[in-house]
Amino acid sequence: MKSASRDGAPLLEVDDVVVDYRRGRSTFRALKGVSMTIGAGECVGLVGESGSGKSTLGKAVLGLAEVTSGTIRFAGQDITHLKGAARRRLAADLQVVFQDPYGSLDPTMTVGQILAEPLTATGTSRADARATVAEMLDHVRLPADTVTRYPSEFSGGQRQRVAIARALVRRPRLIVCDEPVSALDLTTQAAVIDLFIDIQRETGVSYLFVSHDLGVVRRICHRVSVMYQGECVETGPNETVTRNPEHPYTQRLLLASPVADPVRQAERRRSWLQLRAPAASPVA
Ligand SMILES: Nc1ncnc2c1ncn2[C@@H]1O[C@H](COP(=O)(O)OP(=O)(O)O)[C@@H](O)[C@H]1O
Ligand SMILES: [Mg+2]
Repeated sequence: MKSASRDGAPLLEVDDVVVDYRRGRSTFRALKGVSMTIGAGECVGLVGESGSGKSTLGKAVLGLAEVTSGTIRFAGQDITHLKGAARRRLAADLQVVFQDPYGSLDPTMTVGQILAEPLTATGTSRADARATVAEMLDHVRLPADTVTRYPSEFSGGQRQRVAIARALVRRPRLIVCDEPVSALDLTTQAAVIDLFIDIQRETGVSYLFVSHDLGVVRRICHRVSVMYQGECVETGPNETVTRNPEHPYTQRLLLASPVADPVRQAERRRSWLQLRAPAASPVA
């Protein structure tokens, strides 16, 4: 385990972050002053409808979206505007898993090459890299002979396991997971969520877990933040936010998330229709 940065300080601190995107001559404020924290070994979910700013927050943390104002601290270090070599060094501690493993895995490389590359590129010997790759395949429950195969030979769920293994090879402290199970069918989704939970238990890694699906977030996260039109409207323990939310927008999100039981589904649909849409800017 890597040591804590400062006594009691969270691993990630997002403080009043604003992100403006340029759209032609005007700008669009995608994040309007968002704050959140993630502790070591914690999974914090970010839910909200499409366009609410979830991915933008993930990108701001990863340095992929320019922060207009506010501060992002990782292990006590201000990383808000970190660039170049300093940003690349941070990749040892801060990794990402995206929704689409097709786009993020090089089809011309074997899985062994894909997983070893981040290690050998930063000075690890080939023998040590091979040992770490074997360990990571074990973490994601893929057989050892996976190393000789190509991404195209795998199903969506297996490919996402490879993407998770690649995020893990440098033993990061935080992984930003942006809709990592959204492209998978329900059975595969459940298996990959269980895998994320097991990995967290085995490694102590933290997750910022982005999903439009409250049901997914309920299964994996310790705490949940709810995004609405670029603002974080509610944050709290999983049980509170996903079962008994305070904010009208979260209540609508909860009632809109599908449930398996058709009777309960019909009940929820009725209450959903009874709830009026929240005002455009629900938080003062
Ligand atoms: N690169 C960009 N340039 C301009 N607008 C963007 C860009 N990326 C995202 N947006 C806009 O910012 C808002 C938030 O997007 P995003 O963070 O992707 O939302 P989510 O992940 O919650 O669906 C959306 O209105 C989206 O259209
Ligand atoms: Mg998104």
